[in-house]
Amino acid sequence: MARIEIIQGDITKQAVDAIVNAANTSLLGGGGVDGAIHRAAGPELLAECRTLHGCETGRAKITKGYRLPAKHVIHTPGPVWHGGTHGEDALLASCYRSCLTLAAENGCRTVDFPSISTGVYHFPLERAAAIALREIAAFLETHPELERVRMVCFDERTRRVYEEALEKL
Ligand code: APR
Repeated sequence: MARIEIIQGDITKQAVDAIVNAANTSLLGGGGVDGAIHRAAGPELLAECRTLHGCETGRAKITKGYRLPAKHVIHTPGPVWHGGTHGEDALLASCYRSCLTLAAENGCRTVDFPSISTGVYHFPLERAAAIALREIAAFLETHPELERVRMVCFDERTRRVYEEALEKL
């Protein structure tokens, strides 16, 4: 699907309508991509996040992008991996659906995702990639207004796994 692309890069550098932040439920910043996005966006992002009073795992909230080249940031706390018997798959799927729903509601036509939960939250990469692409493809089927969704992978291994998952769609 030409409307889904896999690239390797830094999501904080992408000039798209919305980038997704793999956040935590406090929405008050952290390490990984969360830390990178807050550093690049500047202190106004945290100030706006404070007004949101957190976010449940699997849900999403939207803010401006401030100093980022992206217009918006969509924050979603992914599930922490606890072996796969705690509803992790469903919660990860919900992250992608919630972010895309919010993007569409806010008129975003280009949306970039990081590989949610596959860093600090230890969700298995191949399993996460299959869930992510399945949800993105399903959403695009019913939302022609969304022009393009990209997975912005920070390293070669992650990019390769998402490429393979896309080919298997
Ligand atoms: N651009 C794109 N992807 C990035 C970037 C970046 N600048 N920096 C890191 N990543 C990638 C990681 O390499 C990984 O593939 O984002 C993916 C998700 O990893 P994490 O950032 O660790 O996110 P996650 O596993 O969802 O854990 C979330 O970590 O930073 C804290 O506050 C955050 O508590 C939350 C937890």
